[in-house]
Amino acid sequence: CGIVGYIGYREAYPIVIKGLKRLEYRGYDSAGVMIYDGEAVKLCKTKGKVVDLEERASKEITTNGTIGIGHTRWATHGVPNDVNSHPHLSNSGDLVIIHNGIIENYAPLKVELIKRGYVFHSDTDTEVLVNLIEEVQKNENIKLGKAVQIALNQVVGAYAIAVFDKKNPDEIVAARLGSPLAIGIGEGEYFIASDASPFIEYTSNAVYLEDGEMANIRLHKKMKVRKIQDDSLVDPYIQELQMNLEQIEKGGYDHFMLKEIYEQPNVIKDTYRGRLHPNEGIIQMAGVEDNLEKFLNADRIIIVACGTSWHAGLVAEYIFEEFARISVEVEYASEFRYRNPIINSKDVVIAISQSGETADTMAAIKLAKENGAFVFGVCNVVGSSISRETHAGAYTHAGPEIGVASTKAFTTQITVLTMIALRLAKAKGTLSHSDFNRYLQELELIPEKVKEALKTNDRAKEIAAEFKDAPNCLYLGRGYNFPVALEGALKLKEISYIHAEGYPAAEMKHGPIALIDDQMPVIVIAPIQGHYDKIVSNIQEIKSRSGRIIAVVTKGDTQVRELADYVIEIPETSDALSPLITTIPLQLLSYHIAVMRECNVDQPRNLAKSVTVE
Ligand code: G6P
Repeated sequence: CGIVGYIGYREAYPIVIKGLKRLEYRGYDSAGVMIYDGEAVKLCKTKGKVVDLEERASKEITTNGTIGIGHTRWATHGVPNDVNSHPHLSNSGDLVIIHNGIIENYAPLKVELIKRGYVFHSDTDTEVLVNLIEEVQKNENIKLGKAVQIALNQVVGAYAIAVFDKKNPDEIVAARLGSPLAIGIGEGEYFIASDASPFIEYTSNAVYLEDGEMANIRLHKKMKVRKIQDDSLVDPYIQELQMNLEQIEKGGYDHFMLKEIYEQPNVIKDTYRGRLHPNEGIIQMAGVEDNLEKFLNADRIIIVACGTSWHAGLVAEYIFEEFARISVEVEYASEFRYRNPIINSKDVVIAISQSGETADTMAAIKLAKENGAFVFGVCNVVGSSISRETHAGAYTHAGPEIGVASTKAFTTQITVLTMIALRLAKAKGTLSHSDFNRYLQELELIPEKVKEALKTNDRAKEIAAEFKDAPNCLYLGRGYNFPVALEGALKLKEISYIHAEGYPAAEMKHGPIALIDDQMPVIVIAPIQGHYDKIVSNIQEIKSRSGRIIAVVTKGDTQVRELADYVIEIPETSDALSPLITTIPLQLLSYHIAVMRECNVDQPRNLAKSVTVE
């Protein structure tokens, strides 16, 4: 979910609505807004997107007022409908709350509150929290901030909240545990949001609340930040924001996803800039240099991540083992955290996360730390929770990724992980001097080759037109390109809702081959380097069962061209670096199929970009 708040001298409504649109990547099942006009609380909420909310608000409420809060939801407790949408009111109607996260012990609290006469209108855990705050406030006759604090000390779970009290309307109380919360500080105004994007045009000064902190935000007063648990005051660190407006706008592209696909040559360059020095034969990454011994003494590396980041982890497994001869395990963060894993101080854990906020990945990190492992983060969002929770790390520098389907985050994660593997290989002497230097030079050429690969756009569009109505799709690859097959399939499912599976090409004969008939599109990643002959045999196996083959091949390929129905040509690079190139046409293919199927490319149904619940 995404939350936004404003308190100041401007009209709050347009700020809140625009902010919610920027935060829709966090969820878009339903949306709501509360505006205080100096006398009354105006509330409007609806199932659907922020545009639906705007339409409804224009009919149902007056929107004038200089205090407002809003919410865009990714449902956890209760189906997405009008009633379950936020903001939620307390029974008296005085308190208004927006919440991102989960209150785990809401059920017993709800029972207790019902006993005390409270009535609930929604199925949400949030409505329990706002009434709990009301109950505390009533019993102890205290101000909002204190009541929020006492209530939060009774709940178990994760939250970023903003609460408003009509009885004392020049204040908003915000708090965070587990879900991100940024506060923008302007002249005579404050902004509250899940990330800084809703307020970057108003102020570049922001405070990111730490876990377990709350803020009393009052008009014309200095904001007070304190620890929820023991009430101690904290001196908040005011950060200067680096983000600019251009980065979070579409810049002429139809969709954020397409813009982000096309940004890859530049952002890969940003990722290695200042770190990769082919002429000197050096790779320098501060987080790795400072902890080199830890990496070198590690018995193994465990990679934890979710979704696309997990796929980047799989590519990294092949690269680390090949280059640096360190054994690597790649785990879904959600599985790792609940299976009592064997982990100790000789392990290095690498957590990969675009957002740096994924709850399961965060929990896996905490578990690894408790067991004494050294934890290294590979995140995109600067200052994110995971980047702060890890012992050290390296940012991917891909810039804001807004399309829910991850693209540039994936390729920049692979770039960072490849550089780490190369750095370790150099220290360990596991790559020859000439191979090491060759990889450095090749890596430097990747942005140009990605640019070249983007020229397959028209071809991808033609193929998309041919296959857009397929009910199923199979993606096959071997070696370094097996994870690319998984990622290709994930991209297609996420945004076009076509069922797709990625498989190691040779494993196809142990099951998926049964699915192949003359209707089944099979996308085969078959660059010339790597297990080319083997994959040609796999293609023959598909061909003899009448499957329709779309092959991603190296420019100039002749053998696969004879067998495949369609080929997409990409520039040549070494096997280990090929995922950075082969993945490009697959991103474009999914994109065009989704557009042709009239799907919402940037906000596919049921998904959210940043999943801050487990
Ligand atoms: C969500 C997103 C995916 C992303 C995954 C992990 O499911 O929709 O695109 O890969 O979370 O997110 P992270 O921010 O940790 O990389």
